[in-house]
Amino acid sequence: MKVLHVVGARPNFMKAAPVYRALAKRSHEQILVHTGQHYDALMSDVFFKALEIPDPDESLNVGSGSHAEQTAAIMIRLEPVLLKRKPDLVLVYGDVNSTVAAALVCAKLGVRLGHVEAGLRSFDRTMPEEINRLVTDQLSDLLFTPSADGNTNLAREGVAESKVFLVGNVMIDTLIRFLPKAENVFPKLKAELSLGSFGLITLHRPSNVDNEADFLPLLNALDKLSRDLPLIFPVHPRTRQRWVEQLRAANPNLRAIDPLGYLEFLALQKHATLVITDSGGIQEETTFLGTPCFTLRENTERPITIASGTNVLIGRDWEKLEKEFRNTLNGNRKQGARPPLWDGKASERIADVLAALDR
Ligand code: UD1
Repeated sequence: MKVLHVVGARPNFMKAAPVYRALAKRSHEQILVHTGQHYDALMSDVFFKALEIPDPDESLNVGSGSHAEQTAAIMIRLEPVLLKRKPDLVLVYGDVNSTVAAALVCAKLGVRLGHVEAGLRSFDRTMPEEINRLVTDQLSDLLFTPSADGNTNLAREGVAESKVFLVGNVMIDTLIRFLPKAENVFPKLKAELSLGSFGLITLHRPSNVDNEADFLPLLNALDKLSRDLPLIFPVHPRTRQRWVEQLRAANPNLRAIDPLGYLEFLALQKHATLVITDSGGIQEETTFLGTPCFTLRENTERPITIASGTNVLIGRDWEKLEKEFRNTLNGNRKQGARPPLWDGKASERIADVLAALDR
């Protein structure tokens, strides 16, 4: 079977890497398309290298723009690639604009489409990713879910059960594979950053970082907490551009640094006392690692990280954040368990599904 993978943004890379590898073992012909949604070396190239992903066969170089501009540019540039390469199946990952753009092109051309990380729902249509998830799932022929809540959501939306496969979490496949390497880089990183105990922050969602009224109270709250635990904050380029001055003026224990590579960030998640984030994937990685995670969002498309894992939803309740923070520092941390099928073999299960289709 000829399989074409479409990736574009940082969180796609760790999901596509293990699937590509599992399919390579089964001798499928594979084509890798990078849309160029993320183009900074620190947001893209370093991940290809660390995750041992081969260079893309096709680069669409779309870059940034409004949602419509970016999605449209990907569609326009991907269509001729699909017409030329004639894949039997296109695989898309997660919920970024590259995912939905590729899904639309496949649906229009009648190319079979598989969605890896299907079925997740925040039920919040103000999130661009929720729109991407809903549309991509409706257009997909094969839907690979990371947890059973995904199957429930898809059934409610009328997706035929025969198209849905509960395979587990491919991002955790990558985590399990690379954790030993991450442990190897940790001592050097620890020395470079002069780390003792520390917390880790990531923030990039428009609802947290785009406007002064949203970002400044949040920065203040973090500034306050950092007096009791140094907080390392690798900053997404979007956040950096917008708040250069304010980040520079924060207290030195709140340490804004450049985005980190995969191994370095994984090492920090593993060794952090706690993580404060608005990311989707980090809620899952911390649950797997058992690191307490405080999510600065009103909702999550990954409820299993709350029900089973170490994640707590904070929204914008700074008192709650401080309470959870202090509880954790005092040794009362939320205990969690690893969800079923987050075992490093999700990609192999996807390969099994494709093998069965091939027969
Ligand atoms: C995207 C995803 C989001 C994901 C995040 C992780 C969508 C809708 N959102 O958000 O779900 O959690 O990636 O990283 O797809 N920029 C750079 N360099 C880059 C890429 C972006 O400076 O390499 C800046 C540009 O100013 C750009 C802005 O970041 O306009 C936003 O980039 P975009 O790809 O639109 O969305 P993200 O915020 O990265």
